[in-house]
Amino acid sequence: MRLLTAGESHGPALVGILDGLPAGLRLSEAEIRRDLARRQFAHGRGGRQRIEKDQARILAGLVRGVTTGAPLALVIENLDYKNWEGLEVPPNRVPRPGHADLAGCLKWGFDDTRFVSERASARETAMRTALGAVCKALLAEAGISCAAQVLQIGTVKAGPADLSDRRRLAAVEASPVRCADRAAAGRMLKAVDRAKAAGETLGGVVQVSAFGVPPGLGSSVQWDRKLDGRIAQALMSIQSVKGVLLGQAEAQAASVGSRSQDAIRWSRGRGYFRPTNRAGGLEGGITNGGVVEARILLKPISTLKKGLPSVDLLSKKAVAASYQRSDTCVVPAAVPVAEAMLAWVLSDALLEKFGGDSVRDLKRALGVFRLRAG
Ligand SMILES: Cc1cc2nc3c(=O)[nH]c(=O)nc-3n(C[C@H](O)[C@H](O)[C@H](O)COP(=O)(O)O)c2cc1C
Repeated sequence: MRLLTAGESHGPALVGILDGLPAGLRLSEAEIRRDLARRQFAHGRGGRQRIEKDQARILAGLVRGVTTGAPLALVIENLDYKNWEGLEVPPNRVPRPGHADLAGCLKWGFDDTRFVSERASARETAMRTALGAVCKALLAEAGISCAAQVLQIGTVKAGPADLSDRRRLAAVEASPVRCADRAAAGRMLKAVDRAKAAGETLGGVVQVSAFGVPPGLGSSVQWDRKLDGRIAQALMSIQSVKGVLLGQAEAQAASVGSRSQDAIRWSRGRGYFRPTNRAGGLEGGITNGGVVEARILLKPISTLKKGLPSVDLLSKKAVAASYQRSDTCVVPAAVPVAEAMLAWVLSDALLEKFGGDSVRDLKRALGVFRLRAG
């Protein structure tokens, strides 16, 4: 399966294509809208979100609400486009540190950072979230679900909630910072508001999990087929993500071998199982039947009211980078984006293993495999 997006932050629309989606998957624009709203209205976001009403329209690949196996095409209109249409916007000659601005201008030979920033912008993650919602619908047919939560904003930390428990999941969803620990969530909210008042920004940590994943997805035989690497790449590609950890990676690095693995057990009722999940559901680049679990580390975003030190691309004189309406903390908004990227990688790996022409064939092959492998 291939996932592609196109579109600029202040262009007319974002466009997305999922190519290789099986036939027979029931989809609605409403279920895509739900994830788009979760991305849009998380705490810490800026003024742009008051303008947009993100709604994906399905343009192709669907007949009477069911996929046909043809490429699925989505479009999300940028309502902010109308505010910019026809305006003579002066070129931006001052690249912002922490953005693709300077590296992109050097790469493509531009002296206006907008030619780079308009596409590098995380506005693009709206389309990834929409396509991810489609992948989640496919995974649901295979009994797999993805969920994420915020574990840290700035220096405020919370322990992970068990998101296989519906009430804990609901608590995450009810929290404006997507954290089930109410006391910690309150401190996170305050930290974001304080940062905003001080003209600062904050980063943090999101944990993303997938439940019900069968063993055997991915492969150990070639480096680029290892699913741990594919998951890391997909999560790292999210704007402002600077680190990806699988399972208990940090604790493992500081521990000893005998306390870093997951013992293998077997019982008549459960088949193979592990009393712990330090590996995050992946061994040798293959899913092992456990919960797939990763954490992403996001830096504080780089557009600050007090412009960071930079240089004019033409005069080469030192100037402060300009400020344009920006978010304060995107960690809660990254929750549905991380779910989307994990859902995409798992969907791709699922179709690879079980075949992808129709949902019915996929489920049949998966059923046979589950009987054999538990
Ligand atoms: C949902 C989301 C929204 C973002 N919004 C902003 C923003 O308003 N201002 C900003 O400077 N960066 C924002 N970012 C981060 C930048 O897009 C990102 O730092 C930049 O493109 C450079 O990429 P890199 O940090 O991955 O190297 C956002 C990231 C995400 C995930």
